[in-house]
Amino acid sequence: MKTGRELFDDWAKHYDESLAAGSAPVSFEGYDDVLAETVLQARVNPGMSVLDLGTGTGNLAALFVALGCDVWGTDFSGNMLAKAQEKLPGLHAVLADLRNETWPESLARRFDRIVSAYVWHDFDLDTRMGLLKRLTGQYLAPGGRVVIADIAYPDQASREQARAVWGGLWSADEHYWAADETSAACSAIGLNCTYRQVSSCAGVFVVEPAVLK
Ligand SMILES: C[S@@+](CC[C@H](N)C(=O)[O-])C[C@H]1O[C@@H](n2cnc3c(N)ncnc32)[C@H](O)[C@@H]1O
Repeated sequence: MKTGRELFDDWAKHYDESLAAGSAPVSFEGYDDVLAETVLQARVNPGMSVLDLGTGTGNLAALFVALGCDVWGTDFSGNMLAKAQEKLPGLHAVLADLRNETWPESLARRFDRIVSAYVWHDFDLDTRMGLLKRLTGQYLAPGGRVVIADIAYPDQASREQARAVWGGLWSADEHYWAADETSAACSAIGLNCTYRQVSSCAGVFVVEPAVLK
């Protein structure tokens, strides 16, 4: 059986085509609007450093490159990264598995913005909080923000309703977000989290270190 990384390596060959043809999974409904909202919430200026986690073929990274940002894209799929690098020659492409305890030296710096789209539903809530702690503690520049787009719902009740409606399309191996539980979990580790629903099944989180009063 293929691993997750191998499946993404295979998908890389037709990822952009599947999005353009509308044949990507139903959870990608509103994909362009979700990426646009991610960029809006990131509030970047030209010259800012942006780290895109799970960059895939570089579609989100491309929007930040177009705004004059200096963009790093990480992914654990070599084929996805190769596609991104082909589209964006100036991208700092870094092969890295987000679940690993250590990340490559080339990422050892602080970024003005850390962004990600359609990746974190592979991680459960505890893993996500661990990642956020690490990102805000070691990789985010002062005054920076983490902006994450993914398959998500405003609260646990609406997530349960969606699960019932989706039936067999709901993946038991994936962890779709509920903004209420995310917000509470973030508060518990000293982070502020806001959320905006964009499509029927996806939205954008903004996470920042809480300001001490
Ligand atoms: C659905 S694609 C999204 C790609 C891109 N962000 C976009 O919005 O089009 C998910 C991406 O996350 C990457 N990914 C999944 N799990 C990962 C992990 N543990 N570490 C690094 N990359 C991962 C996959 O290889 C794939 O490129």
